[in-house]
Amino acid sequence: MNKILVTGGCGYIGSHTIVDLLENGFDVISIDDFSRSTDIALAGIEKITGKKIKNYAVDLKNFDAIHTVFQENKNISGIIHFAAYKAVGESVEQPLNYYENNLFGLINLLKCVEEFKIPHFVFSSSCTVYGNPDAIPVTENSPIKEAESPYGATKQMGERIIKDFSFIVNTSCILLRYFNPVGAHPTTYIGELPLGKPMNLVPVITQTAIGKIPKMYVHGNDYDTRDGSCIRDYIHVCDIAHAHTLGLQYLIEKKNQTRCDVFNLGTGNGVTVLEAINTFEKISGVALNYEIGPRRAGDVVAIYANNELAVKKLNWEIKYNLEAMMKTAWDWELKLKNE
Ligand code: WQD
Repeated sequence: MNKILVTGGCGYIGSHTIVDLLENGFDVISIDDFSRSTDIALAGIEKITGKKIKNYAVDLKNFDAIHTVFQENKNISGIIHFAAYKAVGESVEQPLNYYENNLFGLINLLKCVEEFKIPHFVFSSSCTVYGNPDAIPVTENSPIKEAESPYGATKQMGERIIKDFSFIVNTSCILLRYFNPVGAHPTTYIGELPLGKPMNLVPVITQTAIGKIPKMYVHGNDYDTRDGSCIRDYIHVCDIAHAHTLGLQYLIEKKNQTRCDVFNLGTGNGVTVLEAINTFEKISGVALNYEIGPRRAGDVVAIYANNELAVKKLNWEIKYNLEAMMKTAWDWELKLKNE
């Protein structure tokens, strides 16, 4: 059985990906230092799959600690690397913290990939690498423009580090550029657990609807879009998770075209902030308390994916529409309230 190491395995996308890997016959271990997560996800993974996952609570910046993990797990056939800080606004306030954590952690991990000859490596990248695109939808060949934040810059640099690394080892690599992951597992055993005040749209919506946040603000409705609010490509976290399993299988079956293939993981549908809010209200039956506020610094006006390469090459089929994204996000928020 292929053993996969998932870094950031107790996080939002990491935990959903572990469920998908287990359901597709992989064996999994996790590295997560709980700096941005808790071990609640491990219990949820076990409830869904019936399998107990071993998590090593070590910081990727501690080379000796992660080296020990590889010494104790000799037969790792692939790595999916999620562990990184990812709050766009926070990265502007703490750039050194972001460069140190996201890049030192990646470099330490790649040193172990080289030493232990790990065959496959999947990197959690982001549509933020495109910056403010000139043309949408974006393809994998769209220009990589100046990153809008240190977070986006760590993803651009991470991609370059992995690409250069892939030429000196026999490890085959994949870069997966997510658009906006939202929603929760349909069982509501796992979901997004923002520590502290959420910044992303959908957890802000659900926390406003449930009353944790008294009022939310739409960050600007004077953009050059169909209703004035920003456009994003929201995609269900379970669809993102399954794309990782498909990406690993693609590498294991040696279908990769280069040493470092790139894929956009989006639905291909652009949705405005106001449309997302209206869809949530329709699905939940809750009238959201929101106001139009000022624009948010660093926001991209509009971006959504051309996802044809992932659909074709990974045999990726998107299962959740916007209504299902909002329903699972709301069901998860209701579950948290009742706990
Ligand atoms: C979406 C839209 C906001 C909150 C995220 C991740 C980033 C990357 C890409 C993975 C914007 C608006 C938000 C609110 C609002 N994902 N909004 N009121 O900025 O696209 O980036 O996806 O790598 O890591 O952060 O997502 O959800 O913050 O914002 O109007 O209270 O919703 O202005 O237009 P973003 P977001």
